[in-house]
Amino acid sequence: MVKYLNQVPTKNAKLVKWVEEWADICKPEGVYWCDGSQAEYDRLCNELVESGLGIRLNPAKRPNSLLFRSDPSDVARVEARTYIASATKEDAGPTNNWIDPAELKKTMLGLYDGCMRGRIMYIIPFSMGPVGSPIAKIGIEITDSAYVVINMHVMTRVGTKVIDTLGNGEFVPCVHSVGKPLAPGESDNGIWPCAPMDKKYIAHFPETREIWSFGSGYGGNALLGKKCLALRIASVQARDEGWMAEHMLILKLTNPKGEVKYVTGAFPSACGKTNLAMLIPTIKDWKVETVGDDIAWMKFGKDGRLYAINPEAGFFGVAPGTSMKSNPNAMHASSKDTIFTNVALTEDGDVWWEGIGYPAPGKLIDWKGKEWDAATATTPAAHPNARFTARAKNCPAIASNWEDPAGVPISAFLFGGRRPSTVPLIHQSFDWNHGVFMGTIVGSEVTAAALDVKAGTVRRDPFAMLPFCGYNMGDYFRHWLEIGTKSTADKLPKIFYVNWFRKTADGKWLWPGYGDNSRVLKWIFARCDNAIEANKTQIGYMPKVEDIDRTGIEDEVTVDDMKQLLSVDAEGWKKEIGMIKEHYARFGSHLPAELNEQLAAFEARLN
Ligand code: OXD
Ligand code: MN
Repeated sequence: MVKYLNQVPTKNAKLVKWVEEWADICKPEGVYWCDGSQAEYDRLCNELVESGLGIRLNPAKRPNSLLFRSDPSDVARVEARTYIASATKEDAGPTNNWIDPAELKKTMLGLYDGCMRGRIMYIIPFSMGPVGSPIAKIGIEITDSAYVVINMHVMTRVGTKVIDTLGNGEFVPCVHSVGKPLAPGESDNGIWPCAPMDKKYIAHFPETREIWSFGSGYGGNALLGKKCLALRIASVQARDEGWMAEHMLILKLTNPKGEVKYVTGAFPSACGKTNLAMLIPTIKDWKVETVGDDIAWMKFGKDGRLYAINPEAGFFGVAPGTSMKSNPNAMHASSKDTIFTNVALTEDGDVWWEGIGYPAPGKLIDWKGKEWDAATATTPAAHPNARFTARAKNCPAIASNWEDPAGVPISAFLFGGRRPSTVPLIHQSFDWNHGVFMGTIVGSEVTAAALDVKAGTVRRDPFAMLPFCGYNMGDYFRHWLEIGTKSTADKLPKIFYVNWFRKTADGKWLWPGYGDNSRVLKWIFARCDNAIEANKTQIGYMPKVEDIDRTGIEDEVTVDDMKQLLSVDAEGWKKEIGMIKEHYARFGSHLPAELNEQLAAFEARLN
């Protein structure tokens, strides 16, 4: 018998049955339906602090904010334990882990059996996207983690209004457990609950649109609206329904005349996406505002243009490296009402991390809960993947229309990654299919030795979707090509490839980046209006040196630097061709012929 802790807020029989089935399996103390209210948020925060899991930060420094320290084994998305359990392995494709869905469900049901003993089962009705938007989708997450509930409050729209909008409609069922049942009388004792690595599973069943997550309480593994629903499951829905679910920021760009264009951009993780979405232009009278920093859902409007919404309501940003210099807007967004995870604690009850822009103020408590002193420390005070969960509405750069249910019309797509060589500051595709080709070859130089790839090599991350595409990546390329047939070139977004990370032969950055990236956005704006000529080169259209506005940085970035930044490195690209062939070979018969044609034409242009 299910013990409800509050009233069931819905008559959706399918939903109630689903909840009761899972309560039977997981055997929680009781079942609680989240209403999404501030009172609920405050109460759960207090309970988390009382239980010793959360630390309330000094309200004079960081109002209404908490700090959590996760288990050292539970600090990031676990790609090796993430599965696309489609009916066939071929449907998951060569870039995803696959287990037969029946087998995986059997294993996981064994783990879920009694996994919530001693805990509350929270039911979180959430909307990805403004509630009621024709582009939005509703999910219901079952979880035994109050930490997950409060993060979902910030990252999505939660509660009664979602249940009302759902009515008897369809929802994406998402099941989550930290995988740490409690014996009678046992409590977590302030220790982050999770299961060992070999028991963690982040599973997606694309045909039935289900998400099952077990064993991790962290970020993308546990807040199932983000990577699991809004990218992996949504990418499958988008394929079937003719729209796009992309790992893209959305920014609003306003020129000095007050004209507006919206731009989305796909960049692999750790390439400055959040910084770009919130940048402060260094060119006079230009404005950048944020619509989203991580995910874009796009559908065609009646006018043949693609309209994007940000399905999220908050930012789950990497703290280390975020400073008043690199991203003042993110610093403001996380100045209050924020949940921090795995950053360091200062003596006066504030937070600190590496790259925050000032030295550690005295002794700290590091992310493992140990005393930390800058003078003697041998390890970082904050985990390199430490995060802030901040409300989008607290970001000073948030666009006034960021919640427009109709979405915003997109004029340009940007692709990019960290490429110290070969790839110029900016080039534009000749047409849609050439732009798709550019997206398929997105790659980023591996900087962290921790990854299982040799530092200095390029990790291919097509459309920045490598860990997030819910089906065969070759078929996903085909979907991109098909999107291009649904409208006309004048209405489809123009496609650009940018590289803020170009270095000189002796290892110096050639481009200042950050706010100065607005100079490149200015050229993109003009290209979208067909208002400026470009050089037609072997790799695409490129700006004339004088067409990138360098007002105020002429000494820092000389004409010679610009020539390097905007040159075609034919020899570098010839080497790249070999790498692209290897990359494409992975997709076998799923690789669309159009892409081989693009590659062959490119090779011919270089010779
Ligand atoms: C993220 C990621 O956390 O892309 O957004 O890894
Ligand atoms: Mn991301």
